Amino acid sequence: MSDALIEVRDVSVTFGSGSRAVRAVRQVSLHIEKGEAVGIVGESGSGKSTLARVLAGLQRPNSGEVRFAGESIYQRGKAYRGENRRLVQMVFQDPYGSLNPRITALSAVSEAVRVHGVGSRKDAIAKSLELLGRMGISERDAGKKPRQLSGGQRQRVSVARALSAQPSVLLADEPTSAIDQSAQAQLLNLFRGLLDGGLSIALVSHDLGVIRYLTQRVYVMKDGEFVESGLTVEVFDNPQQEYTKQLIASIPGRELHKALS
Ligand SMILES: Nc1ncnc2c1ncn2[C@@H]1O[C@H](COP(=O)(O)OP(=O)(O)OP(=O)(O)O)[C@@H](O)[C@H]1O
Ligand SMILES: [Mg+2]
Repeated sequence: MSDALIEVRDVSVTFGSGSRAVRAVRQVSLHIEKGEAVGIVGESGSGKSTLARVLAGLQRPNSGEVRFAGESIYQRGKAYRGENRRLVQMVFQDPYGSLNPRITALSAVSEAVRVHGVGSRKDAIAKSLELLGRMGISERDAGKKPRQLSGGQRQRVSVARALSAQPSVLLADEPTSAIDQSAQAQLLNLFRGLLDGGLSIALVSHDLGVIRYLTQRVYVMKDGEFVESGLTVEVFDNPQQEYTKQLIASIPGRELHKALS
C-alpha cells in the first residue's frame, strides 16, 4: 500500500443478486494524497456516486479494501470511528435528501460546527454565518429551511456544513451542478484555497471544466470500472480511449473553463 491519505484497493460493489444483480463498481483501485484533488468522471450510472459512498464509509464494498491514513476504515464492523468520522466529509449529489428538512441552514451548519467542537453556541453561530457568507448565503437565507432555498443554495449549504467539520478529505458528488457560474467560481476558488491548506478532495462532476480547473488527476469510469486515469491535463488533452474522447466531446464546461483560466 502507498502512503495515500485515502485509498480503495480492488473494491467491488454489487447491488441485488442473481439475474437482477447490478455490478455498480468492479475491482476499482484509487488513491488520494494529502492536499490532492482527484476527479471521477463518467456517464450516468457508471458507478461514481457508489464509489464516493464507499470512500465515505457509507457503502460497504462486497470485496476489496478501503483505507484512511494507512488503516482499514472498518474496525469491528463500523466505518470511520472516533475522530476519523469528522475527518472524512461528504457532499451528496442530492442535498435535499441530506439536509434535515425541519431545521434552517444556519442550524444545520452550526449544529455541525458544535458537534465538531467550537465552544459556545454564540461562537458556533458566528462561525457558521461566516462560512455560509463565504458560500454566498446571506444571513437572511441562512434563516431558511431547505425547501425554502433554491437547489443551488442547498448545495452551498451542504458544502458549508461539510467544511464546518474541518475535514482532511472532502468527497464532493456534483457539488456545483445546480449553481450558476459566478457562484461556481466562488466555490471552486474556496476549494483551491483549502487544497493549498492540505485538504484532499475527490470530486465527482459531469462538468469537465470544473474537473480540469480543480483536479490534478482524473479517473474515467464506465460500467463500474476505470477505463482511463492519469494527470487531468494529459487525459483531457490526449485521451487514449474512445469513451473518454466521447465524454470530452459531449460534456459542457468549456465556458466555465474559459472564465476561470
Ligand atoms: N442502492 C442501490 N440499489 C440498487 N442499485 C443501485 C443502488 N445505487 C446505485 N445503483 C445502481 O448502480 C449503478 C451505479 O449508480 P451510481 O449512482 O453510482 O452512478 P453514477 O455514476 O453516480 O450516476 P449519475 O451520474 O447519474 O449520478 C446504477 O446502475 C444504479 O442504478
Ligand atoms: Mg451519481
